[in-house]
Amino acid sequence: MPSRPSRAMTEGSEKATMRALKKMGIKTCAFHLNNDWELVRQGAEARVYKGSYEGRPSIAKQRLRSEVKRNLKCRTAGILAPEILMVDVDQCTIIMEEIGNGRTLKQKIKELEKDSNPADELKQICSNLGHLIGKMHEAGTTHGDLTTSNILLNPNGEMVLIDFGLGGGEASAEDKAVDIYVLERALAATHPNMEPLIPDIIDSYCKNNSKAAEVIKKLEDVRMRGRKRSMVG
Ligand SMILES: Nc1ncnc2c1ncn2[C@@H]1O[C@H](COP(=O)(O)OP(=O)(O)OP(=O)(O)O)[C@@H](O)[C@H]1O
Ligand SMILES: [Mg+2]
Repeated sequence: MPSRPSRAMTEGSEKATMRALKKMGIKTCAFHLNNDWELVRQGAEARVYKGSYEGRPSIAKQRLRSEVKRNLKCRTAGILAPEILMVDVDQCTIIMEEIGNGRTLKQKIKELEKDSNPADELKQICSNLGHLIGKMHEAGTTHGDLTTSNILLNPNGEMVLIDFGLGGGEASAEDKAVDIYVLERALAATHPNMEPLIPDIIDSYCKNNSKAAEVIKKLEDVRMRGRKRSMVG
């Protein structure tokens, strides 16, 4: 009997997501994670397992919120995100392609920071980040939780987005500004050496997004609100 999508997966316009999955030939059926799947991360909201799906090294993610919609939007726009191999709506399980060995941008930056002169490489990373976010926003979607832990590096060294937040409709300039602001705060907290390079990210963002001006204007407001909030405590 076909399983009924659970509420967490059907909130908002999840029906459209189901249609998109079907159209893209991605299976939506019940899937039991057996003991061959190794738990690699138990977070507050999600469990991540490593295993094999139809002979492919894969990652299974079980979580309460659906991150499928934004992944599909990005991939459709040609932005790198893991290929979704199957979705079990009842168990809220997503099976996706495994990217490299799960190496994050955070790990790469931490390694670079141990080098005596990482400035050039860090600048290049900022330029790539601005390019990636600019293109994603140009395609009308946001990530929802941009941090250097949620960006993996594939074997070619390219950035691959994972761990999308909830949502995925047409993003407003304000949504996009918040997306950038979340990354700015994450950089300041995790990689203080990169904070002075934020203008490099913004420069590259502007070169890669034809509607950047409106977003950057909103970003000023969002930053201001953030500063006020931190002063109030
Ligand atoms: N497609 C993938 N390929 C390789 N490794 C992955 C993949 N997806 C996740 N991982 C590994 O699992 C880790 C955690 O994944 P993810 O960021 O999706 O979950 P999380 O942060 O625990 O989730 P949440 O923020 O939803 O609680 C990643 O940092 C990465 O090392
Ligand atoms: Mg994460």
